[in-house]
Amino acid sequence: TRCGLVDLFGRRVSYLRLSVTDRCDLRCVYCMAEDMAFVPRNQLLTLEELDRLASAFVARGVAKIRLTGGEPLVRKGLMELVSSLSRHLAARRLKELTLTTNGSLLARHADGLARAGVRRVNVSLDTLDASRFRALTRRGTLGVVMEGLLAAQEAGLKVKLNAVALKGSTEDEIHDLIAFAHGRGMDLTLIETMPLGDVGADRTDQYLSLATLRRTIETRWTLTDTADRSGGPARYARVAETGGRIGFITPLTHSFCETCNRVRVSATGVLYTCLGQEDQVDLRAPLRACEGDEALHAAIDAGIRAKPRGHDFAIARNGAPALARHMSVLGG
Ligand code: GTP
Ligand code: 5AD
Ligand code: SF4
Repeated sequence: TRCGLVDLFGRRVSYLRLSVTDRCDLRCVYCMAEDMAFVPRNQLLTLEELDRLASAFVARGVAKIRLTGGEPLVRKGLMELVSSLSRHLAARRLKELTLTTNGSLLARHADGLARAGVRRVNVSLDTLDASRFRALTRRGTLGVVMEGLLAAQEAGLKVKLNAVALKGSTEDEIHDLIAFAHGRGMDLTLIETMPLGDVGADRTDQYLSLATLRRTIETRWTLTDTADRSGGPARYARVAETGGRIGFITPLTHSFCETCNRVRVSATGVLYTCLGQEDQVDLRAPLRACEGDEALHAAIDAGIRAKPRGHDFAIARNGAPALARHMSVLGG
């Protein structure tokens, strides 16, 4: 049997976030610039390679895989990959196979995802206002995402909503977002914007701290902190009035790296050991070099050994990005 993945700080890596494409059908203002250069398709891992790579991580004790993007559902053949990976669920090596999506293609794929063994999905939704949605995503349609949410729930998928905290809009709508999510049995997670990539705008104009937003929430709702941890960065509070939960992801105001359990792989097969650092190891070359997985496992080990203590995000005074890489390279 192979060794598990433990880094130099004693953290066990049991969670892989695998990006299947850096493309997206939307252009959210905090994520992408209007004009984005995407990776040429011939540099992407094939579906077979994505499967082999994910399976190598499963062999090393990874129990949770989240497919990300860009937008994962725009990747051709994604459902075949999901179905194929679900063999690890059946074998009980994998506890969870899931994805984070913007919801625009969810209506089409919800049934297939549920049939393949996906039990819950995280859907990004920052606003309930149709014209604001159009402005924030630059090309999305709120109604289509709403249909996707409905289809997911009808297919029996549990849904968590992700909303990025944005100055102005989120402050305006937070009470509606809570009522909407909890009224439909969905948790709502709020996220501080991280300064990844040049988005053609000043981050300081977008940034809203969750400490501030929480004060606004508490003018209307009664929050009780819980000990719930999904193994991820979110800290959850329960809302007495709804019984639902609000997750707080606070990379800028409260670090959570001591308990980090995850690594990321880009759609080109580069292992990134921290969302907020550039530490990386190429897995594509070793994947392609040999039919066996020895070289691949050696490269994974090298990456885990180099996993940094954590990120050091801060919103620069001039709003400049901390890292050149866009969020869409790794899907968060
Ligand atoms: P759960 O399985 O529901 O806990 O999902 P999750 O919160 O791990 O994943 P999701 O894809 O919904 O991510 C929500 C937000 O959390 C995104 O903006 C991610 O970028 C951010 N996030 C997830 N993991 C990390 C992390 O390790 N570090 C930082 N800084 N942000 C993270
Ligand atoms: N900071 C924080 N969250 C972001 N997301 C995209 N870009 C950023 C950013 N710069 C969110 C998306 C989605 C999740 C995967 O990451 O809204 O919910
Ligand atoms: Fe696409 Fe998600 Fe980035 Fe929006 S945040 S542009 S939906 S990858």
